[in-house]
Amino acid sequence: MISVVVAIGNNGEIGNKGQLLWHLPADLKKFKQTTMGHHMIMGRKTFESIGKPLPGRTTIIVTRNKDYAVNGCLVTSSVEEAIEVAKQAGEQEVMIVGGGEIYKQSLPLAQRIYLTEVDFVGEADTFFPRVDTQNWDVIETEDHPSESGHPAWSFKVLQRKK
Ligand SMILES: NC(=O)c1ccc[n+]([C@@H]2O[C@H](COP(=O)([O-])OP(=O)(O)OC[C@H]3O[C@@H](n4cnc5c(N)ncnc54)[C@H](OP(=O)(O)O)[C@@H]3O)[C@@H](O)[C@H]2O)c1
Repeated sequence: MISVVVAIGNNGEIGNKGQLLWHLPADLKKFKQTTMGHHMIMGRKTFESIGKPLPGRTTIIVTRNKDYAVNGCLVTSSVEEAIEVAKQAGEQEVMIVGGGEIYKQSLPLAQRIYLTEVDFVGEADTFFPRVDTQNWDVIETEDHPSESGHPAWSFKVLQRKK
């Protein structure tokens, strides 16, 4: 299965100037739980914004730079190749974790979206593609109120309709 993991603001915003738009520790925890033990596919820019491989997961970086290499990560030259590498390693659910360019190319391939919706509006330069709700069933939903100065957020699991 190919899954996408993403956190979006009220207008689909996901990032600005190479960084995330909010600091939401509870969602970071959710991200960790969702991705733990899996292969994660990310664009080179997202990898560099994180800065290191995340423990307990296999990071596959997508780049056009043939010389790109990072200790502890796999590097591929397309999303399709990254998916194939994960599949060959026996991965049952590969997690596509951004950013904008990679989401755009992989959303059509995904069967599931782990979607965090953050009650945030603000300056952004990177957006998640529009999700056509007609094509997806919401199979799980959790609402979290605003607390300790952090915005309210909800977590949904969307499954592509057959
Ligand atoms: N809110 C969220 O859930 C979330 C999650 C992840 C990231 N983000 C945010 O998203 C932003 C980064 O997104 P982005 O769109 O700028 O960059 P990105 O998707 O992370 O990475 C883009 C890079 O991926 C490589 N790439 C893209 N398509 C490729 C292809 N078909 N073949 C080979 N390589 C390819 C290229 O690397 P080279 O230039 O090296 O060739 C390209 O520059 C940041 O602000 C980050 O914080 C948000």
